[in-house]
Amino acid sequence: MTTSNPSTDVVVVYHSGYGHTHRMAQAVAEGARGALLAIDAEGNLSEEAWAALDAADAIIFGAPTYMGGPSWQFKKFADASSKPWFSAKWQDKVFGGFTNSASLNGDKLNTLQYFALLAGQHGGLWVSLAIKPSNTKSSMRDDVNRMGSYIGPMAQSDADAAPEEMSVGDLETARLYGVRVADMARPHKSTERV
Ligand SMILES: Cc1cc2nc3c(=O)[nH]c(=O)nc-3n(C[C@H](O)[C@H](O)[C@H](O)COP(=O)(O)O)c2cc1C
Repeated sequence: MTTSNPSTDVVVVYHSGYGHTHRMAQAVAEGARGALLAIDAEGNLSEEAWAALDAADAIIFGAPTYMGGPSWQFKKFADASSKPWFSAKWQDKVFGGFTNSASLNGDKLNTLQYFALLAGQHGGLWVSLAIKPSNTKSSMRDDVNRMGSYIGPMAQSDADAAPEEMSVGDLETARLYGVRVADMARPHKSTERV
């Protein structure tokens, strides 16, 4: 799957403390041809951003993994999403999620599982990554899905590295995931919302 549907409305709602997850979010949004909605340092989103979430066909969550889970700013956003949950505003939307952390493992899986659970609480449809892992002797740092994740894209940023030094493969994995989420949202839209 290499193309995304420009008429599908995808939003990427994410938090980034130091810019690495922001770079990953940009790659996802590029693939999905979607809009970026940044959760601020206080864990807040503008009213316009909440309206964009309500109107979207697909919502992609993003956060760094801090202490084995999503950053508290993302969790504050997730708790605030109890408001649209109450009136099932996000039900039947397509959902995805991505994370980034310093360690190769770093308990990133817990963050992605949290995102999938949050999507489930909203009655949404979760999109997997569907890129085979790069896990042979010839695998390189800039290969796609070098983290070997299935549930969604993971990036690894060395603790002393700037966002500009992130793995090209991790960013390409994120971009391809954005394409996939947008493509998955298209048939859903045509059957449910014509
Ligand atoms: C409070 C805090 C907790 C962290 N916990 C983890 C962790 O559990 N696992 C890990 O691999 N990295 C951890 N890190 C490293 C960050 O995930 C890593 O620096 C990441 O690139 C930060 O993304 P950001 O620039 O988008 O904030 C932690 C960093 C901070 C500041």
